[in-house]
Amino acid sequence: MSLLERIRTEIVQSGAMPFERFMELALYDPDDGFFGSGPLRSTKAGDFLTSPEVSPWFGRTLGRYVGDRLATLGAPRVVVDVGAGSGSLLEPLLAAVAPLPERAVAIDASPAARRALRDSGYETLSDLHQLAAPVRGVVVANELLDNLPMRLAARVGDGWEERWIGLEGTALGLVAAPARVETAEWLDRYAGPVIDGGIVEVQLAAHDWLLRALALLESGSIVVIDYGATAEELEPRRTIGTLRTYRAHHLGPDPLLEPGATDITADVNFSALLGAARDAGASAALHRQDDFLVAHGLRDRLAELREMELEHARGADAMARLHVRSEIKDAETLLHPRGLGDFRVLIVEK
Ligand SMILES: C[S@@+](CC[C@H](N)C(=O)[O-])C[C@H]1O[C@@H](n2cnc3c(N)ncnc32)[C@H](O)[C@@H]1O
Repeated sequence: MSLLERIRTEIVQSGAMPFERFMELALYDPDDGFFGSGPLRSTKAGDFLTSPEVSPWFGRTLGRYVGDRLATLGAPRVVVDVGAGSGSLLEPLLAAVAPLPERAVAIDASPAARRALRDSGYETLSDLHQLAAPVRGVVVANELLDNLPMRLAARVGDGWEERWIGLEGTALGLVAAPARVETAEWLDRYAGPVIDGGIVEVQLAAHDWLLRALALLESGSIVVIDYGATAEELEPRRTIGTLRTYRAHHLGPDPLLEPGATDITADVNFSALLGAARDAGASAALHRQDDFLVAHGLRDRLAELREMELEHARGADAMARLHVRSEIKDAETLLHPRGLGDFRVLIVEK
């Protein structure tokens, strides 16, 4: 039975399905989920291109922050990459850290990603809770929290309604459901201004993930990088909401049409994560990705690369020049103010 058929059956038997249950099945079902089954997704040949897949200078530059942070902590120290994908972040990041941490762990929910990570020699886990004992070090998560199952809600008058999944004939459709208590509490605190009828993704799982990561950390930092913004900045996107799908590097179809066949994602509400971190007693700061990478030396590295390109041009080494040119172009993509540079970097320190 296809995943769509299984979802239909569950709705027929148990009634409308909470949106987060639908997203959990669509992304993490072990037989048909987009991440739970199938090939490695975050590669050039896959479904989306992330910063570490675009350029190793992302990991190298983040590595400078990580190295500085590890230097303030006593051994043994660990670097953990959650949602590590192909390992394209961890490799250049660790190469930029000296001395190396005593332990490096790659965590990914996808069996295909875990196979790739194990083949690269990393200690590999499928979930953060397997780290067990409190650790000292840095936990990074690039483009992870936008995937964690969300609830979906609409502003109705002064209050809120949830949007669950029901059936319209044989097709899946959104149906109204009363807002659960935690949904309404999260919305009242973090949704920011939303017009009547506006749609908000309620990111309780991201909130819980951050608290779990903080609880595992004896001391160190959590670095969350993703698309999204503060609640106030997200206001113009709160008419139809930000839920969307990706497949083969392009926006995909309606999330309800082909569960399991596309990524389902939404902009991360960083105000909620800042609130969660501060409520837990940690210090937290939010940066744009372009500002963060420049603050950690990427502009200087780019200047060095341009100098190298000129030297190759003077020496008439066309191939070497072309190689450096393409490295520069990829690294510049990380800073594009309306592209990857507009991502946010949340630093939580404990
Ligand atoms: C968009 S990809 C990003 C991969 C990598 N961080 C990068 O930047 O290239 C999201 C990754 O997170 C993994 N993932 C999704 N949910 C997860 C979870 N709850 N725990 C661990 N990994 C998860 C997916 O399998 C996928 O490899």
